[in-house]
Amino acid sequence: MYLHTESRETTTLDGTWQAIPDPYRSFQDGWFDDRDVPLLEDPHAPADYTVDDGFPVEVPGCVGEQLPGFEYYEGMVWHTRRFDREDNGDRLFLRFGAVNYEADVWLNGEHLLTHEGGYTPFSVEITDAVSREDNLLVVGVDNERREDGIPAMQTDWFNFGGIFRSVDLLATPETFVRNVKVETSVDETVTASITAWIDGPEPGDVHAAIPGLGAEVPLEPDDSDGALTRLTGQITLDRDDVELWHPDDPRLYDVCVESESDAVEVRTGFRAVDVEGSDILVNGESIEFRGISMHEEAAGRGRALTPGDIDQRFEWVAELGCNFVRLAHYPHTAAMARRADEEGILLWEEVPAYWDIDFGDKDVQELYRQQLRELIQRDWNRPSVALWSIANETDPEDEVRNRVLPEMASFARELDDTRLVTAACWFDETDDGLALLDPLVEHLDVVGINEYYGWYVGDAGDVRSFVDDPTGPPVIVSETGAGAKWGNHGDEDDRWTEEFQAAYYRESLEAIESVEQIVGATPWILFDFKSPRRMNPHQRGYNRKGLLDEHGRKKRAFSVLRDHYCDP
Ligand code: GCU
Repeated sequence: MYLHTESRETTTLDGTWQAIPDPYRSFQDGWFDDRDVPLLEDPHAPADYTVDDGFPVEVPGCVGEQLPGFEYYEGMVWHTRRFDREDNGDRLFLRFGAVNYEADVWLNGEHLLTHEGGYTPFSVEITDAVSREDNLLVVGVDNERREDGIPAMQTDWFNFGGIFRSVDLLATPETFVRNVKVETSVDETVTASITAWIDGPEPGDVHAAIPGLGAEVPLEPDDSDGALTRLTGQITLDRDDVELWHPDDPRLYDVCVESESDAVEVRTGFRAVDVEGSDILVNGESIEFRGISMHEEAAGRGRALTPGDIDQRFEWVAELGCNFVRLAHYPHTAAMARRADEEGILLWEEVPAYWDIDFGDKDVQELYRQQLRELIQRDWNRPSVALWSIANETDPEDEVRNRVLPEMASFARELDDTRLVTAACWFDETDDGLALLDPLVEHLDVVGINEYYGWYVGDAGDVRSFVDDPTGPPVIVSETGAGAKWGNHGDEDDRWTEEFQAAYYRESLEAIESVEQIVGATPWILFDFKSPRRMNPHQRGYNRKGLLDEHGRKKRAFSVLRDHYCDP
């Protein structure tokens, strides 16, 4: 179960760590066990690598963006740091926001865990392994791509390696509130179903309160495995007494869960997202999804976004007049969803089941569930999150995929059935026009469609031929776009020019607008991003479909989308 830390005091381990690349995986096992540290100057056996004398790197950070000569590095980099314990908690946990791709974690020579998956949080209890002083933490970070990985060998984004989100220590009482889930439903009344997971013996009395609404409820145990006890309770209020969360008015409330020895607070909003025919409803009203897609990337920092980067992204989103963002193709930092809650921006969140995943492999299926669980348990209290996307551009002819993905859709609903499940698919071309023939469609609440008519195939505007069925599922154009190099100008027919991209947007947006079953779009993409698959003279290692380049410079199409959303 996810370890809630948002409302808690933690001790950060961010800062300067030692990075020791091990490109040939040649380091001896347990080389870092510093009980008999080999010394650089050891006259008998000068050490080739030691825990304290690596390359200094910043955590959170991406190695390739910090170490000269490691820009496209994929492989093992040992990350080490020492720390003293300052808290007086009964228990102590070590938590990582994300480590790409596999993290092998050791403390004082003891192996704690191996975590696979580059974009989701994980934690481990270190109460027994930690000392009061001079603890040696070693994390083997391996971002080598693998056939049986999620994602697998090919992605149109760069596989930045590193500990690129924060690392924290969390001290707790013997028995504490490990996680909380607030599910909201809205009709004549508003109901908050509150679930808490208490970690440790004897949970005792636990209750939940919403001070902003003067409401509280005792939570009753309904399941326990001895270590973790689940408790639930419900608060129902008149709809008029609650300010609902809506993109136009993102009202948030604190929900406090208190046990005899602990308390946490969850900031959330009361809202409902549903589907009715081909409409998506927020609090019972259909809504148009004015969106944009984005990767989690900042020039020179890779995936390690700063608060300033997040501010910048929400300024651009607001300037475009968006009320929706697709966070592609993997879970972004939790700070994005918390900010979207405050800004009133609806979100599409996704796990990187992208292109050729080995869906038939049992371990891959387990990893798939793990990534869904880690994302959903982290963000299930975010009112901004409306859609869980289980995949992007996977093969509709693959029978194994057609068996496994519906199972993953059900698994996502088991974890959270208050949001909509989607995936990015393709249109099918039929004699009658474009259609949705992918067998996965019937297992989705909302269908995402990636279309590049006018760029990779056909003509911009071909979407008009879609066989519109207002009783069919809502469709979101999850990708559409064209490449342009910032500052490259020419005629509207000249590819790679800003004029071509702007014209493409004008034509595509009009066509999308003309289809009733399409309730919105997240054009590809807000800013240019690194891709090792893109090397032509305009690209030079970047996907150039951004409305801004990697330095935040606007291309002409930026104002085309802004005008489309702001002065429809
Ligand atoms: C695909 C894919 C994206 C990619 C984009 C493109 O649809 O989902 O990850 O970047 O197309 O070709 O630019």
